[in-house]
Amino acid sequence: ALTEEDLKNVPETGIDPENPGKYQGLLEDLQGNILKGHGRDYSVHLFLEWKADKVTEAKNWIQTFAKCYVTSAKQQADEALRYRQEGIPGKVFANFLLTRYGYEALGFKPFQVPKDQPFTMGMKNEQIRQDFLKDPEVKDWEAGFQKDIHALLLIADDNLINLLQTVNQICQSLRQVAVILHREDGFILRNKAGQVIEHFGFVDGVSQPLFIKRDIVRARTNDGNFSQWDPRASLDIILVKDYNGKTEDSYGSYLVYRKLEQNVKAFHEDQQKLAETLNIKNDLAGALVMGRFADGTPVTKSDIPTYAVTPTNNFNYDEDTAATKCPFQAHIRKTNPRGDTGRVESAPDFDEALRIERDHRIARRAVSYGEHDPTAKPTEGSGLLFLCFQADIENQFNFMQSRWANPDRFVDVGVGLDPVIGQPGKPKGDPKNVVSKWPTKWGECETKEYHFELWVKMKGGEYFFAPSISFLTSLA
Ligand code: HEM
Repeated sequence: ALTEEDLKNVPETGIDPENPGKYQGLLEDLQGNILKGHGRDYSVHLFLEWKADKVTEAKNWIQTFAKCYVTSAKQQADEALRYRQEGIPGKVFANFLLTRYGYEALGFKPFQVPKDQPFTMGMKNEQIRQDFLKDPEVKDWEAGFQKDIHALLLIADDNLINLLQTVNQICQSLRQVAVILHREDGFILRNKAGQVIEHFGFVDGVSQPLFIKRDIVRARTNDGNFSQWDPRASLDIILVKDYNGKTEDSYGSYLVYRKLEQNVKAFHEDQQKLAETLNIKNDLAGALVMGRFADGTPVTKSDIPTYAVTPTNNFNYDEDTAATKCPFQAHIRKTNPRGDTGRVESAPDFDEALRIERDHRIARRAVSYGEHDPTAKPTEGSGLLFLCFQADIENQFNFMQSRWANPDRFVDVGVGLDPVIGQPGKPKGDPKNVVSKWPTKWGECETKEYHFELWVKMKGGEYFFAPSISFLTSLA
């Protein structure tokens, strides 16, 4: 069995699924998409409620679904290898996840339910919603998210027709045991250069905690070395033991799900107004908001986009401690301060503070929804199905949103909200809302105030757990 040390220590070169060694059992019993994104172009998310009088049947259904569809980390890697070597695409990919209510509806006792606190409280819990995340009132969420969700099926494939046919079959068979409360259809949005982007047009998915050897080798090759930012991470930031699992290496992971609508037209207009206010180019204004140019170039490194095929991730803010190049409020600086929080006076020693800061990292697995044309500028109906895996929701996603993105104070006073995902918890125009300062000349101290509005709206979400496969296949 893996030891606590195995989970705590970052394997120097990462886990190699082709030569898994002591990680073999883990990879066979862990669901895919956790240690590495599944990479399929299209996905469907089905939100379920088990029928109260069909518990035994529901357990049977889950067991069959797990055997037929749920993809292990090992299988995901084997299929990816086959694709690289022989061009044979993998099977339909699937994850199966439960909420606390889902465990209870299936008859599990409280002591058998995964323990994470926000997970047991649920995202609709008033304390979580109001005090931490500052989310809109639940009555304003999309109807499907307002109900008590029991389970989430994530089904994905590169072939859209094949995916939709498979989903139809799954929906048919589900009817006996569950009500489908809600459905989301997601896809990978790409720019003309073929890079993965989000609806505002910025390259996305560049900076991730890495666990798998191939990802680590590729990052090292692209960035020379990890001299300024080491993307490797230990397993304990993403995995927790699944005590319901049947093997000695049964692990699972918590998933945060948020539907985030993006008003693309208004965001771009605001970006243009920011550019005019600061008298800078439009693309630089966007970079100050996001922390990277649309092509992925980090604004702390450059005041122009460099159009690298793979944007660098080997950077930190050591040479920009006064935030004259990348403002503190920029989305990627707030969600990954790369050492900033260790520089504030109250921090004990820098290395320890950096270690603690790095433990807040999350593995993002988002996909886009809505408009498929990357040049369109929708005002509603499009955005990000934000998904992230972690071992500790309170210390990771919730911390990032509530302690970094939302507050005005971050590293310094009067920084203001993350202009992409910040949620103020105060109405627009409230005099207590801080107006952020933006550099008028890249790399120089002079700033101007500008209030960038928030163009991302939370439409609903929930906390889930991705159990081990041996738990799912032995349920009935
Ligand atoms: C990075 C966009 C929501 C956390 C990024 C990047 C973009 C982006 C363009 C830069 C690419 C990269 O470094 O991978 C968005 C948009 C969102 C959104 C448009 C909403 C519609 C969120 C949320 C969180 C989050 C809700 C978590 C609370 C992060 C993190 C990074 C990141 C951790 C990597 C930062 C780094 O390591 O430098 N996002 N994001 N994002 N985002 Fe978001």
